[in-house]
Amino acid sequence: MDHFEYRSGVMHAEDVPLPRIAQDVGTPVYVYSRATLERHAKVFRDGLADVPDKLIAFAVKSNPNLAVLRVLANQGYGADCVSIGEVRRALAAGVAAEKIVFSGVGKTHSELISGIEAGIGQFNIESEEEGLELAEIAAQLGVVAQCALRINPDVDAGTHDKISTGKADNKFGVPIDQAGQIFGKLASQPGVNLRGVAVHIGSQLGDLSPLERAIEELGSMVTSLRGAGHAITHVDLGGGLGVPYKAGEELPSPAQYGAMVARVTKDWGVKLIFEPGRVIAGNAGILLTKVVRVKRGINDPFVIVDAAMNDLARPALYGAYHDFVAVEPRGSDMTANIVGPICETGDTFAMGRLTDRLDAGDLAVFRTAGAYGATMASSYNSRGFVPEVLVDGDRYAVVADRIEAGAIMDAERVPDWLT
Ligand code: LLP
Repeated sequence: MDHFEYRSGVMHAEDVPLPRIAQDVGTPVYVYSRATLERHAKVFRDGLADVPDKLIAFAVKSNPNLAVLRVLANQGYGADCVSIGEVRRALAAGVAAEKIVFSGVGKTHSELISGIEAGIGQFNIESEEEGLELAEIAAQLGVVAQCALRINPDVDAGTHDKISTGKADNKFGVPIDQAGQIFGKLASQPGVNLRGVAVHIGSQLGDLSPLERAIEELGSMVTSLRGAGHAITHVDLGGGLGVPYKAGEELPSPAQYGAMVARVTKDWGVKLIFEPGRVIAGNAGILLTKVVRVKRGINDPFVIVDAAMNDLARPALYGAYHDFVAVEPRGSDMTANIVGPICETGDTFAMGRLTDRLDAGDLAVFRTAGAYGATMASSYNSRGFVPEVLVDGDRYAVVADRIEAGAIMDAERVPDWLT
């Protein structure tokens, strides 16, 4: 459930009519709903009611906007970060350092140092090489870094290939059959306290069974590591729960997910860490756009909107489906190709889509754009970066300014020797 609803024929974000935001801020613009973020944070937490000891760390990559992070920090959420830039955002938004988990296969030397200096709660180590490097840095700094080893369980999450992370040939984690030996080696390093294991098999999971298998594998790992004398106190189960992109799409609920997790992990006696991203932010945001013009096509007309693949990359990158509806539907519909202005055919949001009838100047929204939307934007075709707005009841604030193409150009230089 979200708070983007029609009232008297006009789509509102909570109590704010979207045409007002379009008028004041311009289009395209991302619009987030605070009430929806808070609701999702609560539903996810409630789903995990039977997990006694836990940290829920929002996956910052899904929506790193400072105001969004603040909303979630106020809900008691920590942050799952994959770069020092994300760590700084989480800290700036008020997330306590000990609630930050630092994941990622390519943490650089300086990121490892900065992470330690920031006092982050847990490093999820993705290789023996990284673990040894971190241990050496920590020892030099005279501290002990809290760590978990990410395991690659070789489980096919059954999602899009590009967002699948738990198969043996994916770059993430250490192979499960080598994990015991790597764990032993890293655990003996004085600079680290290797206290647990982590897993994340992929995103937009529509079926809980691969996840359950991965968690069971992790459970066996915990048993064998304890058998080898290691104290395992923390297990990170990653994120991945999918959200409905189409009306009526059935996906496992946070309650079903939580019940599965509670059942499989009930005897583990550890603190569980969760890293949800999309399930919290996805349906808490939309991308508001305006129709530039409607162009006749050979078959269906092209509805050309002012948002493009640089603003919302998911359809071009993954063939992803985003619901597309008019802000003020007229009660009639049309079949159209929904495209942006960018000069490549990949800048297509949908082909042959049955949608509300739209004319030039009309406003429309791409739904479920709160996760992996603004954060994946680029300035391709010398377009700027879209602003972001957070709605709260009948008020709203611009929480990220539009960055005009000119401002990006201002950061470029033509060297003297080219004159
Ligand atoms: N934890 C780790 C280690 C991750 O790699 C990810 C996402 C998450 C947590 C959060 O997963 P979520 O709960 O959001 O599924 N750009 C893609 C999604 C990439 C996900 C990358 N990792 C998309 O637009 O679908």
